Amino acid sequence: PKITIVGAGNVGATLAHLTLLKKLGDVVLIDIAEGIPQGKALDMQESAPVESLSANILGTNDYQNTKDSDMIVITAGIARKPGMSRDDLLETNIKVVRQVVQQSAPLSPNAFLILVTNPSDVMAQVALQESGFAPEKVIGLGGVLDSARFRTFIAQELGVSYRDVTAFVLGGHGDDMVPLARYSYAGGIPIETLLTKEKIDSLVERTRFGGGEIVNLLKTGSAYYAPGSSIVSMMEAILLDEKRIMPVSAFVNGKYGVDGLFLGVPVVLGAKGVEQVLEIQLTEEEHKGLMKSAEGVKRLLKQM
Ligand code: NAI
Repeated sequence: PKITIVGAGNVGATLAHLTLLKKLGDVVLIDIAEGIPQGKALDMQESAPVESLSANILGTNDYQNTKDSDMIVITAGIARKPGMSRDDLLETNIKVVRQVVQQSAPLSPNAFLILVTNPSDVMAQVALQESGFAPEKVIGLGGVLDSARFRTFIAQELGVSYRDVTAFVLGGHGDDMVPLARYSYAGGIPIETLLTKEKIDSLVERTRFGGGEIVNLLKTGSAYYAPGSSIVSMMEAILLDEKRIMPVSAFVNGKYGVDGLFLGVPVVLGAKGVEQVLEIQLTEEEHKGLMKSAEGVKRLLKQM
């Protein structure tokens, strides 16, 4: 497969490296900054003999090089600094994402689009409009990363392997996200039977602000290692037709009482993209949380 990564910054470059190491395909790394994608791509290519890799990676500023991509991952735009919310990035990043989709989508009409640029639920909606692609081929990053954070905190609290903890986070990729403790397990055991409610509440809170915690530590930008791994797992699910259940920002139309909006929900990811949107039973409170998240995405869309 041919994989285009737009934006050769922290997330884009980390993702390019992981894509090569996981042998998912050839990579085109594109950015507006001259020299950056070329330099990073050449550096990564020179790791190929050492890592015993055969894939090619090209760094470029020219969209013609992205022609006939199977997947386009958009990480271009600005990231958060301390004190900023993801929503503060809206105005700048909408322009960037529009421009990127207009330049890349017509050259790769069969590609999947993965939107990473924040606020990612809104960017997915923008990409759907600008590309005219089928909704199941446009996907936003959110829940996989947010759940990875929740799983990390649960595993550390229990002192067990990260591998054994499953969890998921519903709703938009913003401060209104809804971590679902009720559907979280360690080795198949509901975490509600292993941890007190107070403890779970504190892990939920840490998850909701997990991105901000890293922004405050780094001071110069936002997270990129866990985001890179999360995106790669979504790419793998699609390219290898794994039919994995993952929480992603998907176009929800008629489920959860939501019509025509990108929102973080559990889906089946396979060769067709979002093959199913799974509708799980929610308590009144959980549903309220999801609706609050949906309203947040709607409000941002109105601002556009
Ligand atoms: P970064 O600042 O390190 O890299 C962004 C890159 O985009 C830069 O190299 C810049 O030159 C490039 N760029 C800007 N405008 C462009 C354009 N018009 N065309 C092509 N390239 C352009 O930022 P980082 O850390 O890589 O984050 C990228 C985005 O991803 C941010 O918006 C961030 O908030 C978002 N993000 C989203 C996550 C999610 O879960 N949805 C997780 C992590 C980051």
